[in-house]
Amino acid sequence: MSESPILLTPGPLTTSIETRRAMLRDWGSRDPAFIALTAELRARLLAVARGEGTHVAVPLQGSGTFIVEAAIATLIGPTDKLLVLINGAYGERMVTIGKRMGRAVEAIRWAEDRPVEPARVAEALRADPSITHVALVHCETTTGILNPLEDVAAIVAGAGRALLLDAMSSFGALPIDLSTTPVTAVLASSNKCLEGVPGLGFALVEPPALERAKGVSPSLSFDLHAQWKGFEADGQWRFTPPVQVVAALVEALRLLETEGGPKARHARYSDNFRTLLAGMRRLGFELFLDEAVQAPIIATFHLPADRGLAFRPFYEALAARGFLIYPGKLTQAETFRIGCIGALDRHDFERLLEAVAETVRVLEAA
Ligand SMILES: Cc1ncc(COP(=O)(O)O)c(C=O)c1O
Repeated sequence: MSESPILLTPGPLTTSIETRRAMLRDWGSRDPAFIALTAELRARLLAVARGEGTHVAVPLQGSGTFIVEAAIATLIGPTDKLLVLINGAYGERMVTIGKRMGRAVEAIRWAEDRPVEPARVAEALRADPSITHVALVHCETTTGILNPLEDVAAIVAGAGRALLLDAMSSFGALPIDLSTTPVTAVLASSNKCLEGVPGLGFALVEPPALERAKGVSPSLSFDLHAQWKGFEADGQWRFTPPVQVVAALVEALRLLETEGGPKARHARYSDNFRTLLAGMRRLGFELFLDEAVQAPIIATFHLPADRGLAFRPFYEALAARGFLIYPGKLTQAETFRIGCIGALDRHDFERLLEAVAETVRVLEAA
């Protein structure tokens, strides 16, 4: 078996050997040992965001989109209206999901390089009393932009509405404190800042919101109320759980605690980002976002077409050196992305920068 490449992507990403090793055993999904593992998973997920006193953790099989779809299907009722705050592809996806579920959906849009403006949210909520829920993407992975969670949460709660937070690419690294920040439901997945393997999403939800949602979801599988009641009844999953993914995520959560929690992880990712940015600038690459609004999660760089660099050959040359980068996802500019997350530190980024320098020399000489 060849060695794993270094994944500079927003997930699946590079995981630690301990996390991968945790997948080497079989588990009976209805056995007490796995029921205990599931209980540990749910407790640890809550603890990451200090939600023990206010929320419950509801894991769900599938990718991140599955948990977003389940949350919208379950928590937005047929007489509710969802306002989605959009500055990238994942906000747009929530509108698509809401419409597919037959729900009333409105949106406010910003340019991809502009953060959500809380004042415009306040204005929209004042203007339309029929809006019951607001959805925000914490870190828009499309660009890596950070949206102002605290300010939006205060405005939404102050207006008496519910907030759904897509924290897919922030949970476990960027600060989310449910004991002080009013968020009805936080949605995230196993394979980003928690550094688990893909296959599992989860929601941290206020129990009254789930209680109200009995029978609301038009889908059997994407029903967070039924999924929650299943766990509460006997600690078991309703349908076949991805047992190895659960085992890996519990191990990854233990490692997060050992590292010092989200604060320490944030510091490591910030160091990765700073190392990357300084090196890429030395090599003549420009960051797409203003640094003031950039989260240390994933960095978007312009692809300098005037230097004859195209994404495919650039990607392939780096892949041949063991580094997998990510294409851009912008509607406007030619870009590529480099993730700063995963079981990586600045030494990995220093090696990446040497590979980028070498790649640029070869491609520009061609
Ligand atoms: C902010 C955000 N939301 C939702 C998703 C969707 O997750 P998945 O691709 O696992 O379905 C992603 C994936 O990158 C994301 O970054």
